[in-house]
Amino acid sequence: MTGRFITFEGIDGAGKSTHIEPAAARLRGVGRSVTVTREPGGTELAESLRKAILHTPMDGITETLLVFAARRDHIGRIIAPALARGEVVLCDRFTDATFAYQGFGRSQDLALLDRLEAAVQQGLQPDLTLWFDLDPEVAAQRRAAARAADRFEAEDLAFFERVRAGYVARMNAAAHRFVRVDASLDRREVERRVVEALNAHVGG
Ligand code: TYD
Repeated sequence: MTGRFITFEGIDGAGKSTHIEPAAARLRGVGRSVTVTREPGGTELAESLRKAILHTPMDGITETLLVFAARRDHIGRIIAPALARGEVVLCDRFTDATFAYQGFGRSQDLALLDRLEAAVQQGLQPDLTLWFDLDPEVAAQRRAAARAADRFEAEDLAFFERVRAGYVARMNAAAHRFVRVDASLDRREVERRVVEALNAHVGG
């Protein structure tokens, strides 16, 4: 039995994190075992790297290497074992975020990201990626109301325009696994679309 690997993506403020726990509850309700996790993070090592990535000033290559180091530990300890047990893994962000934030947002070499992705993931890719797409200006307004900014959230509108373009590029390169969810819709309608995508990809 093999599980299903489902990732949630989008710029900060798009609301993806809001929809993960309800999705998990729904899947558990129909008898699936579900692991909910996040990146960077998900293991003791990766969570400590997350603190540095989000709050310690560093250059773009260092940031990229730490994100992939955290991912390697997370895959080995959490994601791969859960998939091998046949579980549904719901992950708040994965490598599409690295292409969007480090690749497009911070202009890191996309060929380097390709090599690191291949080395770290050994072919592992999400079965489904729910991309919560929202106008960066609207997302910035939502963030301003919500919380203190980390190193990414403090970036300007142009940065998030590039990040959004990064997600568009990743979707165009792997359209079979992407579902774009219009995150400007009201919360119930977004949730309805998330359920619809999960039904189609995981089963009721
Ligand atoms: P996020 O997932 O938005 O969590 P929270 O809701 O707690 O703020 O924050 C993670 C941040 O890390 C986000 O701003 C994007 C960034 N990030 C990268 O830059 N590259 C990556 O590969 C990943 C996974 C995240």
